[in-house]
Amino acid sequence: MPTVTIALSKGRILDETLPLLAEAGIVPVEDPRSSRRLILATSDARASVVVLRATDVPTYVQYGAAALGVAGRDVLLEHGGDGLYQPVDLGIGRCRLVVAAHRSYDWAHSVQRGARIRVATKYVRVAREHFAAKGMHVDLIKLYGSMELAPLAGLADAIVDLVSTGNTLKANDLVAVEDIMPISSRLIVNPAALKLRRAEVKPVHDAIEAAVAARGAAGAGR
Ligand code: PRP
Repeated sequence: MPTVTIALSKGRILDETLPLLAEAGIVPVEDPRSSRRLILATSDARASVVVLRATDVPTYVQYGAAALGVAGRDVLLEHGGDGLYQPVDLGIGRCRLVVAAHRSYDWAHSVQRGARIRVATKYVRVAREHFAAKGMHVDLIKLYGSMELAPLAGLADAIVDLVSTGNTLKANDLVAVEDIMPISSRLIVNPAALKLRRAEVKPVHDAIEAAVAARGAAGAGR
């Protein structure tokens, strides 16, 4: 029987994903953070994992190259979510999406007087929707990383980025000026795989869902 492939996001989310998968009885045979192997079998004979750049996870699941995936809400919103079920909030990778500017920049005043504001971000789609909903016109500049540098280097007046501890903003004299939304990671599913390979996919899906539910129950009991 072919295994059910789970696409995992590299980086910080992975550190929180691996313990959750372990609680679901799915432990990769090698540590994906150090292994050079791209496809890893797991302790669960039904499941294997691939570790991808976060933005590629929805694409693998959308096209069915992976039946299941773990992706941040930020990445899913930018992707658009077409062709994906997003049934379970995994409660990991929690952070916030915010607008931030240099502490010397008067954001409120610029907004109030309708200044032409330049905003750098890798979340162009979400940022466009956020500012449009507020009736603000901003010039968006697409970046792929190190957004915090943009206001310091004079590329932009503000950024839209994720904030977790707030340390990166602080270290660069930036402050959050608007909160956009809370972010966490979701289990995503290829609908065709769930339908056509239900006998294989559903048990793996359910094991992950049960591990999340068990955490919730343990949390509620504390
Ligand atoms: C994210 C985000 C910020 C940082 C915020 O980047 O883009 O730069 O974390 O975290 P903090 O509030 O705890 O300082 P990440 O390190 O995930 O890498 P990335 O730039 O590749 O997204």
